[in-house]
Amino acid sequence: MSSTRIVIDLDLPGGTISRHLYGHFAEHLGRSIYGGFFVGEDSEIANEAGIRLDVVEALRELAIPNLRWPGGCFADDYHWRDGVGPRESRPRMVNSHWGDIVEDNSFGTHEFMRLCELLGADAYVNGNVGSGTVREMSEWIEYLTRADDSPMAVLRRENGRDEPWRVPFFGIGNEAWGCGGNMRAEAYADLARQYATYVRDHGENRVYRIAAGANVDDLDWTEALMKALGCLGCDGQGSSPYQAVSLHYYTMTGPWERKGSATDFDEDEWYLALSRAFRIEQLLTRHSTVMDRHDPRKRVGLVLDEWGTWWDVEPGTNPGFLYQQNTLRDALVASVHFDAFHRHADRLVMANIAQTVNVLQAMLLTDPETGALVRTPTFHVFAMNVGHHDARALDAHVVDGDTRFVDGRDLPLISASASTKDDVALVSLSNLDVSEARMVVLDLRGRSIEGWSARLLTAESTAAHNVPGEPDQVAPVDFDGVRRHERGLQIELPAHSYATVSIQLGV
Ligand code: AHR
Repeated sequence: MSSTRIVIDLDLPGGTISRHLYGHFAEHLGRSIYGGFFVGEDSEIANEAGIRLDVVEALRELAIPNLRWPGGCFADDYHWRDGVGPRESRPRMVNSHWGDIVEDNSFGTHEFMRLCELLGADAYVNGNVGSGTVREMSEWIEYLTRADDSPMAVLRRENGRDEPWRVPFFGIGNEAWGCGGNMRAEAYADLARQYATYVRDHGENRVYRIAAGANVDDLDWTEALMKALGCLGCDGQGSSPYQAVSLHYYTMTGPWERKGSATDFDEDEWYLALSRAFRIEQLLTRHSTVMDRHDPRKRVGLVLDEWGTWWDVEPGTNPGFLYQQNTLRDALVASVHFDAFHRHADRLVMANIAQTVNVLQAMLLTDPETGALVRTPTFHVFAMNVGHHDARALDAHVVDGDTRFVDGRDLPLISASASTKDDVALVSLSNLDVSEARMVVLDLRGRSIEGWSARLLTAESTAAHNVPGEPDQVAPVDFDGVRRHERGLQIELPAHSYATVSIQLGV
């Protein structure tokens, strides 16, 4: 069995891995909101104010730190005033991006903020630049966060909510280069400055404004957004109209017309997907380098507010609803992303998987007929990584690691990252090899090891996935494959698996 050594200096913790790197996304798309998060008060499915309690309970296991809403592309078609007030009098609209269906606006601002409260998650509200006005955006943040008798605070009270909410994150449009208005970078950058100016801090609420950023490797877009901020800190205040720029990157193995099946793939497609997932490292490095040129002190954050796998929809489902299954391959795409996120935590301040329920690389899938809910393999990676939230990053140097040549580059077959919090080190290990187990030696330096426990996520087949009736085909188990080694610990990591090792540290 080949062996890989990973060197970790336990006594040299670096920066904090923000819990917001484990953020989520709920768009008015397919069965994400309707049937996913929201079933209405009259549903037989247990709910509070129409919000599914089984979904809330499951997501609480992930300690989800923030939830982005209402889009995505939908955000730039959405007019928030249509989604407040008595449900029966809310106007309808066409959801032109996602299935061209009629949206009845029964899930709006109050329902979303209640969902965030139930989840214990921060709200990330995404405003409309593409088809909305500056006034509309300005009044939305006033409605959400103002306490006194301002016109919007009064309207909120008339609609049943006395206290203002806390809204820490606000998006200034979405994909302005595409569905958000087909703009040129410089034109959008000017609009972003303008709109963000009117997303005001009311009372105690402090908003972190996120400008709609680049698609994949469009470094010019990031450059334009950073350039538009001018000389950061020259005024001695360090203030800027927006505090972060976003980035979107999806893992795909084919062109849009033929993205491939979520569950029916061969060995080459397995490796291709994982190689594409690894690309996130290069993208984060490149966008960060552009940002460094304008902002060496890293005042402006990078927010990867859409990431994950994008496969062909499940046969027989609406092509506009983006409903896809989720296998062990998706789980490893997620773990590889998290390893990269941890390494870039100095610039990357937030990330949001697309999306949380029933859309793209979801945590939860619900059956449209029976309502049954399953946790996906990706859910389990998020759950196994909760210990990394707000922990301090530890460098994990993979030495002598095997690689495989895929898609023009070397794909490392072992991916790893580590963090530490409260005298515990958490090490994440992914074995991307389809068929070979690997011996991993953790070369642990700087502190003693008092004990350990480990969890393992794997399955017989790489395409294993969970369905109602068989919800635990891919689920984590306690793992006893960890032994003491003269350099620290050794782990026999099965083929196509993900493991976390939690190590109790002494002096
Ligand atoms: O997540 C699905 C869609 O992908 C989003 O609405 C859009 O922003 C992106 O293109």
